[in-house]
Amino acid sequence: MRGDVNVGLTSMRRTLSASFLGLIRVFGRNPASRASFAQNFCRKSSSEHTNMDLSDMRKKYKIDEECFEESQLVSLDPIKQFGDWFDQATKCSGVGEANAMCIATATKDGRPSARMVLLKGYSNEGFRFFTNYESRKGSELESNPFACLVFYWEPLNRQIRIEGTVERIPFESSRDYFHSRPKSSQIGAVVSRQSTPVPDRDYLRQKNAELEEKYKDTDVPMPDYWGGYIVKPSMIEFWQGQTNRLHDRIVFTRPEDGACEPGEFQHTAEGGWVYQRLSP
Ligand SMILES: Cc1cc2nc3c(=O)[nH]c(=O)nc-3n(C[C@H](O)[C@H](O)[C@H](O)COP(=O)(O)O)c2cc1C
Repeated sequence: MRGDVNVGLTSMRRTLSASFLGLIRVFGRNPASRASFAQNFCRKSSSEHTNMDLSDMRKKYKIDEECFEESQLVSLDPIKQFGDWFDQATKCSGVGEANAMCIATATKDGRPSARMVLLKGYSNEGFRFFTNYESRKGSELESNPFACLVFYWEPLNRQIRIEGTVERIPFESSRDYFHSRPKSSQIGAVVSRQSTPVPDRDYLRQKNAELEEKYKDTDVPMPDYWGGYIVKPSMIEFWQGQTNRLHDRIVFTRPEDGACEPGEFQHTAEGGWVYQRLSP
């Protein structure tokens, strides 16, 4: 078990896996079953009204002997428990991008939106990612600073769900990370006024070329519309899938200041957290 959970993930680089690998996982290595899926998909989706029946798509998860019991928590500190599962995910060859997570935000009046981002570090304080502050997620977070993160590591049958408040990280930390990225990514961040419409791809290509020329001998200044956020967790749920659908769900919550004794079925954890098992 690692002692220091303040882990930077900046060196993790994306390796895009071919989507057909996903098909192999779902339909097995048998070419006939893959071909039959493809034919079925093409036939059904080429009709005027698409109506796919996926009711038989079901994957085997873990057997009951491999369940996730409270005694298997490596720590009663949920950040350390996150670290243990995260490390296992990074070592699992079937997980292409262990730090990819879905982040859900919402407008002030509660309309949700979700998308993938990359976790770039975590500590006892929270979970960090970088984005454009003026993007859709950025403007939602500015007016409603709450988010939910979801990791799903399919080969491990594991999901982690995190809810919390969101804050911008200090400017200096964003700037340090910005300059640690490859120059092409720095330029990409300047080029992209994320989530705003552009006429076509050439518009972006041209802007990119102009900026490459402009900054060919100098540093790229970090734009003020770009930087990091930290999600400060108040809930972290560990889910492990079981074939018999008696999935394991162990959820840690941090009661508001002043909250009293743990409730029924709740157990005291570390650092002001409590945990309990939820019905799947
Ligand atoms: C695997 C993956 C990782 C991504 N990582 C990031 C990221 O770290 N930061 C980011 O701003 N967008 C990232 N994106 C793009 C976002 O999903 C999204 O398209 C973009 O942030 C705009 O979202 P918004 O319009 O909802 O703000 C990633 C997409 C994928 C599929």
